[in-house]
Amino acid sequence: MTMTTVSAADGRMLYGGDYNPEQWPEEIWAKDMELFHEAGINEVTLNVFSWASLQPSEHEYDFSRLDRIVDTVTKAGMSIIMATSTGALPSWLSLEYPEVERVDFFGRKHRQGERHDACPNSPVYRRLSAALAGKLAERYGHLANVVGWHISNEYGGYCYCERCTQAFQQWLRKHYATIDDLNAAWNTAFWSGTFQSFDQIGLPDFAGDGIDGNRAVLPGYTIDYRRFFSDSIREAYHLEKLAVREHDAATPVTTNFMWRFDNYDYQAWGDDLDIASWDCYPQRDTKPSSTAFWHEVIRGLKHGQPFLLMEQTPSRQNWQEYCYLKAPGQMREMSWHAVAHGADSVQFFQLRRSRGGCEKFHGAVIDIDGSNRTRVFREVAQLGGELKRFGSRLLGSRSAARVAVLFDFQNWWGLEACVGPTRGLDYVDECERYFAEFARRNIAVDVVSANVDIDAYAIVLAPCLYMLRGDMADRLRAYVRGGGRLLLTTMSALVDEHDNLFQGECPVPLRDVAGVWAEETDALPPDMAVPLVCGDAPAPADGDDVFGACGLLCDIMHPDDDTRVLARYGGDAFYAGTPAITAHDFGDGRCWYVGTMPDEMAARTIVDDLLDGTGISEMPSPAGTEITVRIAADGTRYTFLLNHTAQSQAVVVPCDGVDLLGDGGAADTPAEVSIGTEITLAPYGVRLIETRA
Ligand code: GLA
Ligand code: ZN
Repeated sequence: MTMTTVSAADGRMLYGGDYNPEQWPEEIWAKDMELFHEAGINEVTLNVFSWASLQPSEHEYDFSRLDRIVDTVTKAGMSIIMATSTGALPSWLSLEYPEVERVDFFGRKHRQGERHDACPNSPVYRRLSAALAGKLAERYGHLANVVGWHISNEYGGYCYCERCTQAFQQWLRKHYATIDDLNAAWNTAFWSGTFQSFDQIGLPDFAGDGIDGNRAVLPGYTIDYRRFFSDSIREAYHLEKLAVREHDAATPVTTNFMWRFDNYDYQAWGDDLDIASWDCYPQRDTKPSSTAFWHEVIRGLKHGQPFLLMEQTPSRQNWQEYCYLKAPGQMREMSWHAVAHGADSVQFFQLRRSRGGCEKFHGAVIDIDGSNRTRVFREVAQLGGELKRFGSRLLGSRSAARVAVLFDFQNWWGLEACVGPTRGLDYVDECERYFAEFARRNIAVDVVSANVDIDAYAIVLAPCLYMLRGDMADRLRAYVRGGGRLLLTTMSALVDEHDNLFQGECPVPLRDVAGVWAEETDALPPDMAVPLVCGDAPAPADGDDVFGACGLLCDIMHPDDDTRVLARYGGDAFYAGTPAITAHDFGDGRCWYVGTMPDEMAARTIVDDLLDGTGISEMPSPAGTEITVRIAADGTRYTFLLNHTAQSQAVVVPCDGVDLLGDGGAADTPAEVSIGTEITLAPYGVRLIETRA
């Protein structure tokens, strides 16, 4: 864990993105360079999808065009993130070696074309993808302006081919000493699933144990398949990385991850990623707190180190059902929002709009008119100017959150694999529910994986942490005993790593910590809510005992004598009057158990109670605005005031400092601002206040 950031060759924050000049006549490249300069762009991500032309046949490589591209952008002073081009296979490869193509869940073999189609367990794919990565590193790795390697592109999907079957059997042999151990782990006694040998085990596909891609009759089986396949993809990545490393010992290597993407365990990538990176494409109705949550997931992958915002669109996507345009100022605001949450780059897909293909309606910095006159270009240039002036100051700075959400990919798989008790449970929504309530108060929250040290956090939220693997239960218990505040919810602490239910009173391994036995769970249809009334404390001040409302799942609970009941179910269910939300002192800490999905009003009171006595203070700001802080190694604080809305908003400045951006762009002479003064944020306005230590 050495890397802290990646910057442009000139020390500035990377500003650029995917550039595919191979789609246009070379005459226009020079013009592109001029426009990049004008827009403050200093980086191009090259070569994302060029395998077919780089290697026209197995024993023939041709780097001549890429040489010219590299030469052009290098002379223009651009830094390069060099992709390895292995995200889409050349046709000759697919046709000569059909094993490189995937078989889908339904058993259909892919032939050629598209992308995301390589089987990571194909030896031919592994050999040739690593060979290409190596050749690229040999040719370009020494260049001072190659600042990063980008392996493949947005890994995604699964394969159910014969080779994957064999590789899965090998994986299982490594993870289980005997077939009896595996039978016990998967509880194969259910529906006569017992295996007599590892060779009998196919993949949990449609013709086998699979119900759909994420669920199987034996959840332990499907979760192991997902672990195996995640490992397979990671190995394919690793082989390319090793090939790069043979020629380039130090340039950081990454691959670009995705939003709400659960196919692989991103948290298992660990040190194999030198820097984390992701592609951020919020929908029209995505809440800013949800985008922020994903920035934080990615930042959490490297324990709080900054990440690269590898892609975002400058204007619209092409693949959403209704491709909205980012309104004037909105791209800028979303970019600063990413930076506020730890991005050390602002990069676009893409710098010039595709001539053809299924992404021809995707937004780009340079549109088909090839000019600097478009609204999008002008906005990109404005942001480019700001980043040029101030971006490098932010590089490497971090958050100082005292609250964490424990977010675990394998737990996500486990919840998806559940048949019952509800189709309505969305693990990410549950994490975001609490994250959003802290975000509303402008309290920083880290999103951390299950294996990090949580002791430094005052509050740890573990919504629907259903699967407790290894020593997770012990570590959570120790955390609370040592003074930590832990929030558990319904669907927390139910199963072990093989998805088998812990036997005992729920939440079994944390029963003593929670101080409550959740005996039964009712599931409600999405349009049904249950009122929540105040419990024993805090006593309703005004006689109004409305605590809020809840839905989806309602645990029916028995609190221990020393457990405080914050809220009870109201309404007319047979369990009306019983506890819904509790808090229990354990050791020097406290554990909250929220037996249901609280609405916003209820979540507020829960979070009030969680915060009470921690000394963590909120920074109030109007709905739709946000205050987020990054802290540099020398203690300088960067406070971002962000307006996510199309209306002007007044925000009270939470600190003294210098307002770097001013009203709507880089102020010529940044003005001093002082704590407590009111500042007006323009629609999608951003302020960046620098406070020296
Ligand atoms: C992804 C890919 C890009 C492009 C964009 C379009 O992020 O990595 O190659 O397809 O989506 O939004
Ligand atoms: Zn395969």
